[in-house]
Amino acid sequence: MASTFVFFLLSTLSLAFSPPEAEAQSLPPIVNGLSFTFYKSTCPKLESIVRKFLKEQFEKDIGLAAGLLRVHFHDCFVQGCDGSVLLDGSASGPSEKDAPPNLTLRPEAFKAINELRVLIDNACGRVVSCADVVALAARDSVFLSGGPQYRIPLGRRDGRRFATRNATLASLPAPTFNISTILSILSRINLDAADLVALSGGHTIGRSHCSSFSNRIFPSRDPTMNRAFFDHLRFTCPTASSTNTTPLDFRSPNAFDNKYYVDLVNREGLFTSDEDLFMNSKIKSIVQSFAVNQTLFFEKFVFSMVKMGQLGVLTGGKGEIRANCSARNDDKIAIWRAMEKEGDKAVY
Ligand code: HEM
Ligand SMILES: *[C@@H]1O[C@H](CO)[C@@H](O)[C@H](O)[C@H]1NC(C)=O
Ligand SMILES: *[C@@H]1O[C@H](CO)[C@@H](O)[C@H](O)[C@H]1NC(C)=O
Ligand SMILES: *[C@@H]1O[C@H](CO)[C@@H](O)[C@H](O)[C@H]1NC(C)=O
Ligand SMILES: *[C@@H]1O[C@H](CO)[C@@H](O)[C@H](O)[C@H]1NC(C)=O
Ligand SMILES: *[C@@H]1O[C@H](CO)[C@@H](O)[C@H](O)[C@H]1NC(C)=O
Repeated sequence: MASTFVFFLLSTLSLAFSPPEAEAQSLPPIVNGLSFTFYKSTCPKLESIVRKFLKEQFEKDIGLAAGLLRVHFHDCFVQGCDGSVLLDGSASGPSEKDAPPNLTLRPEAFKAINELRVLIDNACGRVVSCADVVALAARDSVFLSGGPQYRIPLGRRDGRRFATRNATLASLPAPTFNISTILSILSRINLDAADLVALSGGHTIGRSHCSSFSNRIFPSRDPTMNRAFFDHLRFTCPTASSTNTTPLDFRSPNAFDNKYYVDLVNREGLFTSDEDLFMNSKIKSIVQSFAVNQTLFFEKFVFSMVKMGQLGVLTGGKGEIRANCSARNDDKIAIWRAMEKEGDKAVY
């Protein structure tokens, strides 16, 4: 009964608000407090500001799209999509001193979020959360790289808690983990195997450092890896400590498409966490179905992204709307700096 109602609600919503260019999309339930029209009256230009800015930035550096998509993933997996990943001093944020090894989030992505923060504030005042800016930036990174066009619910609030180093390490699966281990981590946040296969498709854009897959090429070839691909990776990464990088999807490094799954089928996945999706007899068939049908992949990716994008969100009066995405509002230094810049306009 309840599920029929939710289904009815969702189909009504999508009928009423879908942009004409979007195909009918099946979406997970929308969390209370989030909505597709959240900023309709308070910041009607929000989505066009984000899209225009990112389009310009990606013409200069398409790698930024991958950087922004990954920031949203890290934000949502570590204590929910609350923008804590952006906080200076958060374990997965820009602060060097607390960052666990191998997190390698791109500084350009944090910079772009702060620039968007300023553009949006200038147009609408301080009404849009940094967590929503991150979610929209990830959504547009997918679309502007050739992926699906889709709508996301908005209304997230920014968290006031830093992500600790321990929480970060415990929440983010490592690339060296096998699929059973990763599935048990995901089950704690209600994500399942179907979500894992679809979301891993985010690895169709972006790059990796050698250290993230050195376990598969040193001291010798992981037997599940294609031999020619191994030779190519050993050429890129002459030693395990090399700081070089390589594309996550060598077939089409900057295009958001289904080639990542073609890589996996050919045993050219980069991480253990990637290739093991194809080695797992229970979920191998999902990988194969995405490798032959990009439309199917896009549908499932959208579903799981909207699900991931609602993990542990703060809504209503919880949290705050940060003045500076890198600092909590009661951070005195940040307030002084923001006031110097904005004078009377600053509202706290
Ligand atoms: C299943 C668990 C996952 C693991 C173990 C994992 C692991 C990694 C690792 C190790 C890197 C490379 C870091 C480096 O060496 O520079 C990476 C990059 C990336 N990941 Fe994931 N990831 C996972 C899930 C996801 C999800 C769910 C998304 C988004 C939907 C995502 C999007 C990306 C992107 C776009 C990059 C490239 C970043 C860049 O070029 O700056 N990953 N991931
Ligand atoms: C992180 O990188 C270091 C070397 O830079 C390596 O020793 C360590 O095993 C890596 N950890 C993970 C989780 O990949
Ligand atoms: C973090 O984890 C390590 C190892 O599991 C543990 O020794 C340490 O006490 C933890 N620190 C905090 C602050 O919880
Ligand atoms: C996955 O890794 C865990 C931890 O290293 C290990 O206990 C388990 O046996 C592995 N599972 C498979 C199917 O390889
Ligand atoms: C690909 O997937 C889409 C979406 O689920 C489906 O409508 C279509 O029939 C599939 N195409 C093929 C050739 O199987
Ligand atoms: C935002 O906060 C960070 C971290 O505290 C600080 O380094 C930066 O200068 C602040 N930016 C502005 C514009 O106040």
